[in-house]
Amino acid sequence: MSGPTTYPGEIFTDTSDFDAGIRLLLPHYDAMLDAVANCLPATATQVLELGCGTGELSLRVLRQCPSARLTAVDYSPRMLSYAQAKIEAAGFNRVSWIEADFGDWAEGGLEALPINSFDACVSSLAIHHLRDPLKQSLFRQIHRNLKPGGCFWNADPTPPESQVLARLYQIVREAWTAQQGTALAAVKAKTGHGKPTHGHSSHDHLATLSAHLTMLEDAGFHNLDVPWKYYGLAVFGGFA
Ligand SMILES: C[S@@+](CC[C@H](N)C(=O)[O-])C[C@H]1O[C@@H](n2cnc3c(N)ncnc32)[C@H](O)[C@@H]1O
Repeated sequence: MSGPTTYPGEIFTDTSDFDAGIRLLLPHYDAMLDAVANCLPATATQVLELGCGTGELSLRVLRQCPSARLTAVDYSPRMLSYAQAKIEAAGFNRVSWIEADFGDWAEGGLEALPINSFDACVSSLAIHHLRDPLKQSLFRQIHRNLKPGGCFWNADPTPPESQVLARLYQIVREAWTAQQGTALAAVKAKTGHGKPTHGHSSHDHLATLSAHLTMLEDAGFHNLDVPWKYYGLAVFGGFA
């Protein structure tokens, strides 16, 4: 085996393969991220992003919220430097990049983050790497650090509520990749030899949509909603 060992969530050995590869692996990735960003108030001045990766959602947040300062957290130095270069090349200088594990923040650590000060928190394809009890702690921590009326929107895989639809969800995903002219196997050949765990994250710990909504409600969020869903992918969240 060659190349760097990837952390959970990095997916590709070479970070520069991520943007094209994720679009082949996941149906309607762009529409999903657009849905997250569209939910943000254009008046937001402070936005927190958890697991920014290569900065595809960060870019959308900066465009949607022209006055906002974005605090972008990721535990991968490779992802952070890739995102930073992309965002700077796009002409934005409103981002604080923080190399940290958002699981530590869920447990009350991470003094680097401002407290109680965010108009919004967003995340995509990252929180599902935490086990459910830590997801729950993270949702509480997000709620505590939003201004009253602030919002949280998360895009993540959500498995079907029953096994009846599991095969259908899988078929839809494989058909998507086949439509792009590439077999799923060929895309997966570019994925990294991932570390099974790094910090608080490990390989997928998928929770159903209803389980997520229950956790969000328990964390204090209200007016929960699901502005976008496509088979096993969903954007969901609510207000503090
Ligand atoms: C699949 S990528 C998604 C990146 C980006 N949000 C997107 O939608 O394209 C998941 C990202 O979450 C980061 N990540 C996973 N677990 C993390 C944790 N516990 N703390 C900080 N970052 C984490 C990974 O390094 C990776 O950059």
